[in-house]
Amino acid sequence: MKVLGIMGSPRIGGNSDILLDEALAGAKAMGAEVEKIILDRKKIAGCKDCKKCNETGICVLKDDMHEIQMKILDADAIIHSGPVYFWSMTSQMKAYLDRWCAFFDAQWRWQKTYYPKMKGKRIGLITVCGDPNVHTADPIVHSFKSTVEMTKMNWLGAVMATANEKGEISQNEAAKKQALELGRKAATP
Ligand SMILES: Cc1cc2nc3c(=O)[nH]c(=O)nc-3n(C[C@H](O)[C@H](O)[C@H](O)COP(=O)(O)O)c2cc1C
Repeated sequence: MKVLGIMGSPRIGGNSDILLDEALAGAKAMGAEVEKIILDRKKIAGCKDCKKCNETGICVLKDDMHEIQMKILDADAIIHSGPVYFWSMTSQMKAYLDRWCAFFDAQWRWQKTYYPKMKGKRIGLITVCGDPNVHTADPIVHSFKSTVEMTKMNWLGAVMATANEKGEISQNEAAKKQALELGRKAATP
């Protein structure tokens, strides 16, 4: 059982990172092998919409996303975590998500070679926003949940929390518990 954590905040050790660590600890406690990828430390260019991947399943851009795609294929579950930036996801997370294009054909069906590994893959999300109203992060939830539902993966749900200062979320026991539970769920077939 492999659970992959995708950290979309450039603030390493910040709120999204702390909650993702909680989730991965929950998964590990269930016996899963866990790995965290910090997107800000990777080179991931924006999708060019060149459509070459529609035929090949391979992106023409030669950067770190290829290695991440191999890890996505290999994982049983993926937990994404990131803050709200201007009512949306960070540019790091958006570049990563757009590059999922390479998994699909021109009709947004899984490439045949990827389908067996992607079908039913469990996907979870953690969001952090400065706004006391956690629903400020709804557009990010919408992006991930719609992607999961459209492609017949398995939506684990979202943990949505509020924090501003770096590390402030450490004081939020309820959010940490929810993240831990998300991780446990990710590691449960
Ligand atoms: C560029 C930028 C834009 C932001 N935009 C929003 C926003 O639109 N709504 C909001 O509630 N918080 C916004 N925030 C606040 C962050 O979501 C908040 O500080 C969060 O705790 C950061 O999480 P992190 O520690 O994981 O990076 C913004 C922060 C930055 C740096």
